Amino acid sequence: MEARCSICVILVCVLAKSISQSEPRCKPDRNEEFEIIPKNDCTGWYLCVWGRPKEMPNCPKGSVFSRSAHVCVPINSIFDDCPKGMGIITTTKSPLTVEQQCSQDRTAIIPHPTECQLYYNCSVNYTYVPRYFEQHLVECTYPKLFSTDTLKCEDFDTVNCGNRREAKSGCDYHALQCPSSHCMPCYVRFPSCEMKQDGINPHPEKLWSPFYIVCKNERFMSEERCPADDEGHTQLFSPETKLCTRLDFISQEHGGLMKNCTGKVDGANADDFGRCDRYAECQNGKFVNIVKCPSGLVFDTAERKCVLGKDACAPCGSKQGCRK
Ligand SMILES: *[C@@H]1O[C@H](CO)[C@@H](O)[C@H](O)[C@H]1NC(C)=O
Ligand SMILES: *[C@@H]1O[C@H](CO)[C@@H](O)[C@H](O)[C@H]1NC(C)=O
Ligand SMILES: *[C@@H]1O[C@H](CO)[C@@H](O)[C@H](O)[C@H]1NC(C)=O
Repeated sequence: MEARCSICVILVCVLAKSISQSEPRCKPDRNEEFEIIPKNDCTGWYLCVWGRPKEMPNCPKGSVFSRSAHVCVPINSIFDDCPKGMGIITTTKSPLTVEQQCSQDRTAIIPHPTECQLYYNCSVNYTYVPRYFEQHLVECTYPKLFSTDTLKCEDFDTVNCGNRREAKSGCDYHALQCPSSHCMPCYVRFPSCEMKQDGINPHPEKLWSPFYIVCKNERFMSEERCPADDEGHTQLFSPETKLCTRLDFISQEHGGLMKNCTGKVDGANADDFGRCDRYAECQNGKFVNIVKCPSGLVFDTAERKCVLGKDACAPCGSKQGCRK
């Protein structure tokens, strides 16, 4: 019995809560009077009948319900006392077109109904509507999003998109689409960071190049270039290790200078690119390391070690009588 009653109490609470969210509360003990409660978005009002709110038909198009006069008045007229901002946001749900809303309020800011990075700025009147846009349509710069709270573009991690689609990739932004055929594809300029971890990632269109990208919260932050190595040579970004890597440690098939140790004896082997100041160490046909000779010495292919130039056979040295 007691258990059943506590369930009743919970049910009543839940019901009361769901009603209070959609309908206002009538003042108690005013059953004789008809209380009028304006809707928050100024589109109409509720009438309290025997202590219960009854939704009345909305004001006609182009008018709002005045809180002080308790009648429908023309929008933006001197009788319009709707708090600024309230009416603006709710107009997205109204059947009015953007053009109609802008003609009612020439400075209105209207969120786009489906895309979180877009909004309409009625003050913006394009002479020529840009490609992928429409009249009054404006877009936040990537990766910002439009906030319905501040009616401005804000940092994406502070914006609540609600039902609007949250664009994460630069290529979801209209302004970054290629306007003509003479344009580097968007996915090269703004590679997608969706499903990628924060920080450094390979550039999907520039694998094994000096370039990599930086992601944060699935947004593309920047494209970066590997610094030169201590000899001033280009380094490539390895998608395998996710590190900037010297050419000596990048295989030749990926554009590097790494010794191909296939079929080579274990130990020191001459460089594949004729560089005399270093040798490669191979083990079981696999590249292990590159070793630079001490300053002034060169690699001798006969002795398989670093020696003075006069003691090394050709091509690195000038020693006579070497076996051809
Ligand atoms: C709307 O456009 C006007 C005129 O270009 C500009 O001054 C204003 O800052 C814009 N507002 C927003 C929120 O973009
Ligand atoms: C914007 O353009 C429309 C249509 O071309 C025009 O009727 C209106 O007067 C313009 N508004 C402003 C503020 O320039
Ligand atoms: C490495 O050398 C072997 C034997 O000479 C050759 O078959 C192979 O294609 C080479 N690999 C590369 C990546 O050059």
